[in-house]
Amino acid sequence: MVIASHTLDRVLVLEMVRVTEAAAVAASKLIGRGNEKAADHAAVEAMREALNQLEFDGTVVIGEGERDEAPMLFIGEKVGRAQGTGPKIDIALDPLEGTTITAKAGPNALAVLAIADEGGLLNAPDVYMDKLAIGPGYPEGTIDLNRSASDNIRSVAKAKGVDPSEIIVCVLDRPRHEKLIAELRALGCGIQLIPDGDVAGVIAVTNPDTTIDIYMGSGGAPEGVLAAAALRCVGGQFQGRLLFRNDDERGRAAKWGVEDLDRIYHLHDLAKGDVIFAATGVTDGSLLEGVKRRKSCLTTESVVMRASTGTVRWVKGEHRGEPGSHRD
Ligand code: FBP
Repeated sequence: MVIASHTLDRVLVLEMVRVTEAAAVAASKLIGRGNEKAADHAAVEAMREALNQLEFDGTVVIGEGERDEAPMLFIGEKVGRAQGTGPKIDIALDPLEGTTITAKAGPNALAVLAIADEGGLLNAPDVYMDKLAIGPGYPEGTIDLNRSASDNIRSVAKAKGVDPSEIIVCVLDRPRHEKLIAELRALGCGIQLIPDGDVAGVIAVTNPDTTIDIYMGSGGAPEGVLAAAALRCVGGQFQGRLLFRNDDERGRAAKWGVEDLDRIYHLHDLAKGDVIFAATGVTDGSLLEGVKRRKSCLTTESVVMRASTGTVRWVKGEHRGEPGSHRD
């Protein structure tokens, strides 16, 4: 068990839910409106405002991009109203994970963040990451990014005591995954192709109700850190390797302190020490229900988890005003 951090006060656990609720509710007004940018912008503004009401000295380490490309919640931005006096906390955030999903009213859009003590989260460059994840209960070493997809499927199937054809794999539906999908089809695996949203996709392996056994394929590296933070809390195995498509991306890696370009990152390399992970559903999904605008109130569903205790809290909110607007 990880020793609870002195800086991550337990009060922060529920405060994190207020933050993701505020972002999710703001984004939900744009569900199905075909405007990705507006949805993202609404979530970013709301999350920033909610973070700035908290008594900590926070730094965004994974955010909306670098300062020159993101006006708000850029990497390095200071948030929280106790700058210089409060606990120093690093924050990885994605105010709207699934901008296209939200614009099209698809499943699994989330408002999500993870916090850790200063230095606890990998400052991942915004490049792709090859990801491999399974839920809790498997022996260490069941998965290995250095092995082929087929070998990993056989290994998981053996550990589960089933035939490889019974393994269900979650993969982002992208042309770059054509070869991977063909390899999985040859084994007879079930493949759940998701249009977007691999934070929820990776976390799905920890929930037996989804029936997903393994997550495979590449997606955003920042999303990999967020998913790893969640798996640190609920258990499971995750491996990630940064993928660089060109010299520009390789050059950026150095800026982020990445020396070994082929390094395989395990859970503790991505999110170490005590970590709190929180998410609120924007649209309905495998992890959470989305925001619902009912006659007399708004409802939200969130999850918040902590690595040091392994506690997972599911929080249903009924809001009779905008969450975050009046410190509800
Ligand atoms: P956005 O919310 O930034 O649109 O990200 C959605 C997402 O599907 C992530 O979950 C995933 O990691 C990434 O995009 C995959 O990138 P790409 O769309 O380039 O394949």
